[in-house]
Amino acid sequence: MQACLSHDDRRARTFLARRFPEAIEATMRDRFDLIVNEHDAILSAAELAAAAKGCRYLFVSATESLPSSLFDALAPELEVVGTLSVGYDHIAVDSAKAHGVSVLHTPDVLSEACAEIAMMLLLNAARRGYESDALVRSGAWRGWGPTQLLGLELTGRRLAILGMGRIGREVAQRARGFGLQIHYHNRTRLPFELEAGANYHGDRESFLAHADILLIAAPGTPALRGFLDRDAIAGLPADSIVVNISRGDIVDDDALIAALQDGRVFAAGLDVFRDEPNIDPRYRRLSNVFLSAHIGSATTKTRNAMGQLLLDGVAALQAGRRPANELT
Ligand code: DGY
Repeated sequence: MQACLSHDDRRARTFLARRFPEAIEATMRDRFDLIVNEHDAILSAAELAAAAKGCRYLFVSATESLPSSLFDALAPELEVVGTLSVGYDHIAVDSAKAHGVSVLHTPDVLSEACAEIAMMLLLNAARRGYESDALVRSGAWRGWGPTQLLGLELTGRRLAILGMGRIGREVAQRARGFGLQIHYHNRTRLPFELEAGANYHGDRESFLAHADILLIAAPGTPALRGFLDRDAIAGLPADSIVVNISRGDIVDDDALIAALQDGRVFAAGLDVFRDEPNIDPRYRRLSNVFLSAHIGSATTKTRNAMGQLLLDGVAALQAGRRPANELT
């Protein structure tokens, strides 16, 4: 392990825990004394603490867990953590703060890409995209049929968005073009101009009762763990659709799987799961679920923008300014 550079050195020792886009890594190599987790394997908190020992900057993604023990282990050298994600439920932000570590994340720049994936999931769930694809691929398709693969039409249905933040609002904008009526639930009501005609529900029961399609877009927080449980599902209209682009633990898998099996929920589109990539195996066997591999922000443009936002944040901190994407 090389010795840590002093705070006066221009090229701060830095650990990159996952492989970032090429252009971002190139800039990092220029600016920092960079150590890269070349194999891109997901490191445990203990492995990360060992690998990043002595570093001032640490870049991670949502696949790494940064508990308070990691900040204890990397103090006092660690100054900045940058996560290539808008979500920060994997980071003990309070502990970072207590150690004087700045935490940067990547809001805004991924909202449009994530909204596109929400629409992809929603359309595939409603129109039976997985079954249709599988039928064609299987060679068993006998051609067009009057009652074949009948799905649910979006026009005139109600899309209920849990978490009408930046991503939720981008989804709402696209969904209006499909003729969906927008409803939402947030802790606080949005100002009129941000609501753009969406109907606010302060209470959970009324919100769920309007969810022909429930979109989970709220950030993962302990308060929302298990939000979509058996009771919540019982409060949904018949033939509802569930779409999750946020965090897997907001859904009670037992409850959702039972509802998908007995038809209480028509279909689901899921991009995120509890304990990724070890998803509940029952999802794989359900034909009324469209699954994707946590690809909300996965476009070249967006991942570059996310990386650049972290680099700009570090540059701002070096210049003594507070970047807008700083959490602590
Ligand atoms: C995010 O940005 O939080 C995405 O879920 C990727 O981790």
